[in-house]
Amino acid sequence: MLFYKDYPVEYLRIDQETPCTVYFQQGENLIMLVPKKALFSRQHIDFLKERGIGKIFVHARERKAMEQYTARHLDKILSDQNMPPKIKAEIFYSTSGYAMEQVLEDPRTETIGDMKKIIKGMLNHIISNKVVLSDLFTITAHDYYTYHHCLNVGIFATALAYRYYGDKDPDNDIERLSYGFFLHDIGKSKVPKEILTKPDKLSAEEWQIMKQHPQWGYNILMQTGHLTDEAAYIALEHHEQVNGSGYPNGIRGNMIHPCARICAIVDMFDALTTERPYKPALTPFDALRYMQRHLIYGFDPSYLETFVHLLAPKPPA
Ligand SMILES: [Fe+2]
Ligand SMILES: [Fe+2]
Repeated sequence: MLFYKDYPVEYLRIDQETPCTVYFQQGENLIMLVPKKALFSRQHIDFLKERGIGKIFVHARERKAMEQYTARHLDKILSDQNMPPKIKAEIFYSTSGYAMEQVLEDPRTETIGDMKKIIKGMLNHIISNKVVLSDLFTITAHDYYTYHHCLNVGIFATALAYRYYGDKDPDNDIERLSYGFFLHDIGKSKVPKEILTKPDKLSAEEWQIMKQHPQWGYNILMQTGHLTDEAAYIALEHHEQVNGSGYPNGIRGNMIHPCARICAIVDMFDALTTERPYKPALTPFDALRYMQRHLIYGFDPSYLETFVHLLAPKPPA
């Protein structure tokens, strides 16, 4: 069994194809339960339950296939009422690393190229920080899109902060700041799901509720007190605009925390470049052009310029 890895049975989804051959233990031996790409059914579960078996085994070289499989089904796993919370958390922790890797493999991050190594190092710290992860877990269980959005914003905003401050101020602890980027929308965990996932335009009342998520996020992060104050200010001010047209407080310019100004740019970029039921995705180039033409007075110009340079295709060597 040296070359096999065990998982709780709950990792497998009923009526879905298995990502690899799955075994169960009988005495000293492993016996095949389901071959690769076969349907895992209720009968399989019953078969294991009758024998009091709670674990399945897959070959260690199939670990990646298992991670891809659980990442694909993560939203269903986390919203499954019958799944024990402990196992939900375990599945979430084990797939988070993979989900972040996926964001780094995103074609939009190609241009970050030389910074990937540093960002990966930071991500490893974030993944091992249980506080950040458990907050991300709360978001994921509530709305899967927001979870992905938080990962994207976390990675791009960390890259932007590093490009802007990394070399100029080696004491600037970008890693500490980046926690706030990953959790900027934590307040959305208090917005009712029907509003968050509504495919149509929000009504005036729904929009009023949605606009409270920065304040709710601030309250959550301040109450837990596990992270830095910066993280809470990023949550509170990431929808403020430098021209004063943002929310919740309509503050302007340098009154807005620098990290929140960074977060605002990346937040808009991710919204524009992500496909939603009600709108197609813009290419990164079109999104940046749109932001420069139409929204320039809302964003901090020096961070926006750095972000454009960060994502601009590198000239051929
Ligand atoms: Fe937000
Ligand atoms: Fe956001």
